[in-house]
Amino acid sequence: MPELNDRTALVTGASRGIGKAIAQRLAAEGVRVAVHYGTQEKSAQETVETIERAGGRAFAVRADLLRDDAVDELFTALERELEGRPLHILVNNAAVAPAPGDPALAAQDGYVPGLSDTTPEEFDRVYRINVRAPFFVTQRALSLMADGGRIVNVSSAVTRIAWPLLPYAMTKGALEMMAPRLANELGSRGITVNTVAPGITDTDMNRWVRETPGAEAGISALTALGRLGRPNDIAGIVAFLVSDDARWITGQLLDASGGMALAPAMM
Ligand SMILES: NC(=O)c1ccc[n+]([C@@H]2O[C@H](COP(=O)([O-])OP(=O)(O)OC[C@H]3O[C@@H](n4cnc5c(N)ncnc54)[C@H](OP(=O)(O)O)[C@@H]3O)[C@@H](O)[C@H]2O)c1
Repeated sequence: MPELNDRTALVTGASRGIGKAIAQRLAAEGVRVAVHYGTQEKSAQETVETIERAGGRAFAVRADLLRDDAVDELFTALERELEGRPLHILVNNAAVAPAPGDPALAAQDGYVPGLSDTTPEEFDRVYRINVRAPFFVTQRALSLMADGGRIVNVSSAVTRIAWPLLPYAMTKGALEMMAPRLANELGSRGITVNTVAPGITDTDMNRWVRETPGAEAGISALTALGRLGRPNDIAGIVAFLVSDDARWITGQLLDASGGMALAPAMM
């Protein structure tokens, strides 16, 4: 693996939230970062400018992962910037949580959150972005990736608890299957593949936490370290996994939740 200064990373969904923190952290370590985004060009440019102001190197690449041509669009832009050089790090971070269903449904008998209020269209949308996209982004990235490269998939602690956003939790369960198998396949090239699973983290995805009285206190009480996650908490763990010190970790799932839901709530 070359020195950090010679590495390039692709971080999907790096315009905001956890992906932005990962991009900034990797750039601070000297990695040149492709800041991927879907629609929020201004936010992506802000990520790039923040990195550059701090002395790092970054560029933005757009691709709406819902679209059929997303992988082509993303890699055409990335390859233009790479100019024949390899990619060293891929962080599959972009994802969406399902939009809330029809509130009228919640008042009906037999209502089950996450099951009753999910439409087939919404189910497909979440799977396309959270599962299909990282699968095919990884497939395409491998042809560019140097031996000794690193792949990190961002899952969620919700795969290990009974969380009401059922389709979202299911997408993350599917994503988690990638690391063990790919680690085995790619070990001969020295490429490691791991999954990081954040708990509830303070980003746009969780506006409801800020907007719901008592939600932050409730989540903090469920968490051994007693607070919501911050994007930098997750970025530090990803930075470790892509570092040379983590060369002997592959195929693993790393919890990044501060110890969320370690025991039933009353204990
Ligand atoms: N926040 C949490 O509590 C939490 C907990 C566990 C796991 N996670 C996981 O952590 C990762 C980051 O979450 P976050 O909270 O940082 O999310 P976020 O703040 O909502 O940011 C989502 C990112 O994904 C991109 N994205 C969304 N839809 C896209 C699409 N169709 N095409 C391309 N890009 C798209 C967004 O790009 P635009 O800016 O262009 O829209 C944005 O950069 C996700 O995998 C999430 O599941 C989050």
